[in-house]
Amino acid sequence: MAFEDWKKTEGEKQTATAVESNSGLSWVSEAALGAYRDARSAMPVEEPYKDLALAGTAVLGLASATLVARKALVSESLQIVGKEVSIVPLTKENLPKAVAAANDGFRYGWPILHPARDFKASLNPAVNAKRLAHVSDDFKIELNARYWVAKDRNGNVFGTTGLYETGRDQSEAAWLGWMSVRNNARGLGIGRKLVEFSEEQARADGKQFLRLYTSTSKGEAAAQVLYEKLGYKIVERTPHSLPRFIQRLAGEKQPLEILLREKRL
Ligand SMILES: CC(C)(COP(=O)(O)OP(=O)(O)OC[C@H]1O[C@@H](n2cnc3c(N)ncnc32)[C@H](O)[C@@H]1OP(=O)(O)O)[C@@H](O)C(=O)NCCC(=O)NCCS
Repeated sequence: MAFEDWKKTEGEKQTATAVESNSGLSWVSEAALGAYRDARSAMPVEEPYKDLALAGTAVLGLASATLVARKALVSESLQIVGKEVSIVPLTKENLPKAVAAANDGFRYGWPILHPARDFKASLNPAVNAKRLAHVSDDFKIELNARYWVAKDRNGNVFGTTGLYETGRDQSEAAWLGWMSVRNNARGLGIGRKLVEFSEEQARADGKQFLRLYTSTSKGEAAAQVLYEKLGYKIVERTPHSLPRFIQRLAGEKQPLEILLREKRL
């Protein structure tokens, strides 16, 4: 076939395709226009308000469809959780999911919380050793930190927990750290499981006490119920060091207190 002829044929094909897709498009827009006209005429309101009523109905429809889809997604993840959650050590592989879960679990709050920093440090023996060397009587720095994640069989992480020691009470106590459960997986027993697991670990390490810091923050109210149920007594209350105006900005109506709780294992 000569080049000119080929160009002609090819050009015709392309034109035909363009016409087809245009007619496809115009069919779609005609159908949409038809549906719009039908819906509009079915609106049981006076003429000047028909479009307004139609727009309102569309917005409501979209919002309820979003809610239904969201509920379906959440309940799907909850089903997985309910069936099977195991607690396994934090590793380099599950670190990103652990950080995401802890950020979600602690998202009520404070920009000063850094699960990622502590999780990473715990996986780096050099950092842990250096911390240990410098902190023999520093109460605040965490020694021998170890973390675990609660995951389902698909590897989705729904909660985290951890244990660390401090220089002052290393011989008798372990401390609970970064214990939280993702918002969409609460109320299923994962939090209790994480704390009880941590207690078993501390016992196996020969500790007599499990201690923890918590606060009167509204975001930690559920945790107080859990700790009370599991027998963690408040042994010290101190005013939170954050300036009151920041506490207010974070929606805390009462002045915040730090609570030290402990349980004899
Ligand atoms: C505290 C937290 C871990 C609980 O997790 P969870 O998986 O929802 O808890 P569970 O389903 O295991 O419930 C444990 C117990 O606490 C109680 N509880 C949990 N949430 C509650 C709530 N919102 N209100 C009242 N009681 C609650 C339950 O009645 C349950 O008692 P039961 O075991 O006798 O039935 C979770 O709410 C969370 O991550 N909070 C934010 C992070 C946080 O505060 N961490 C602790 C920081 S110190």
